[in-house]
Amino acid sequence: MIPEKNCTRCALCQFRTKIVMPDGDPSSNVIFVGEAPGENEDLIGRPFVGRSGKLLEKIMLEEGIKRSDVLITNTVKCRPPGNRDPTKEEMDACRPFLEHELSGRKVIVGLGRSACRDLIGYEGKMGEIVNKEMKINIGGKELTFLPAYHPAACIYNNDSKAELRRTMNILRTKYMG
Ligand code: URA
Repeated sequence: MIPEKNCTRCALCQFRTKIVMPDGDPSSNVIFVGEAPGENEDLIGRPFVGRSGKLLEKIMLEEGIKRSDVLITNTVKCRPPGNRDPTKEEMDACRPFLEHELSGRKVIVGLGRSACRDLIGYEGKMGEIVNKEMKINIGGKELTFLPAYHPAACIYNNDSKAELRRTMNILRTKYMG
């Protein structure tokens, strides 16, 4: 299921310029789920094109993964005003689209709190789950879920950046051989 061009399933439709659909390899086994489009993504209509996207691409490449090797999406496809976190209602409204994107994948990388809240119902500290792989059930299929720091949290934090690099290393060595 993909959103209609004039989707009004949640209130975010009032604020958006463009619906931001997944980017990358549609047949990849690996999908990255971020939080929500930001200002640049909303204008351009592509996920992770701003500052955190640049950092994500750089860290991926340091571990030998190209952006075009994976599929990249967000919990919600429209930008929340002021870049606030998407609400549970907004994530629920967008969930059928996300489930469609997840179907047929083997590994989900959950980038940051919103992705972990949406996909595993986790409300705690990211530091406690980052890089701890787990199995989750999506649409009756078992997938690997790999919690990761959101790249925006790594811009000024070298420890988080090192953990995100480790995420990419785990991904390449265990799942992208
Ligand atoms: N850009 C996105 O597309 N998603 C985020 O979570 C952050 C920036």
